[in-house]
Amino acid sequence: MHKDVERILYTEEELRRRVKELGAQITADYAGRNPLLVSVLRGSYIFMADLTRAIGLDVTVDFMAVSSYGAGTVSSGQVEIKKDLSDSIEGRDLIIVEDILDSGNTLYYLMKVLRARKPASIRICALMDKPERRTKPITADYAGFTIPDAFIVGYGLDYAERYRNLPYVGILKPSVYEK
Ligand code: PRP
Repeated sequence: MHKDVERILYTEEELRRRVKELGAQITADYAGRNPLLVSVLRGSYIFMADLTRAIGLDVTVDFMAVSSYGAGTVSSGQVEIKKDLSDSIEGRDLIIVEDILDSGNTLYYLMKVLRARKPASIRICALMDKPERRTKPITADYAGFTIPDAFIVGYGLDYAERYRNLPYVGILKPSVYEK
């Protein structure tokens, strides 16, 4: 375990199992359709890679980068598009893929931007959901794990851009961000 991690919340195996389940659920729900999975970078890159491989449909993928947190642990509420999608989403069945749904600020803003581009449908798939932190009316259609309000890292999730490559999801030692 990494020395900055207090304890492991979800092991590699638990993550793998849950992502497979989400993929199977999406495969069943979208049978006969070709959803477009939109990964919200950077945090979702590992989840996206595993989730798309767990879906047994012809999917397409696209990527968007937004930032709201900066180097802190609390969302600033300001969302900025750093990289936009490459293709049109008009008439497409969109699934937004997020690593974590926290205050809801990011997705509240993104949903508004994406709805205006006239997709056929939009659903949200978030690996981690912290409902008690929500300040915006956003819910995940697919949620991997409902988690307590702790600062987690790994499997794509960072603190100040570090720890994304940990294969598990762990709770960061408060001493790391209270410095
Ligand atoms: C994280 C996460 C979501 C957002 C969720 O991104 O990937 O996009 O925060 O928080 P919210 O519900 O409070 O808006 P972050 O800004 O940390 O960037 P990253 O994906 O590059 O790590």
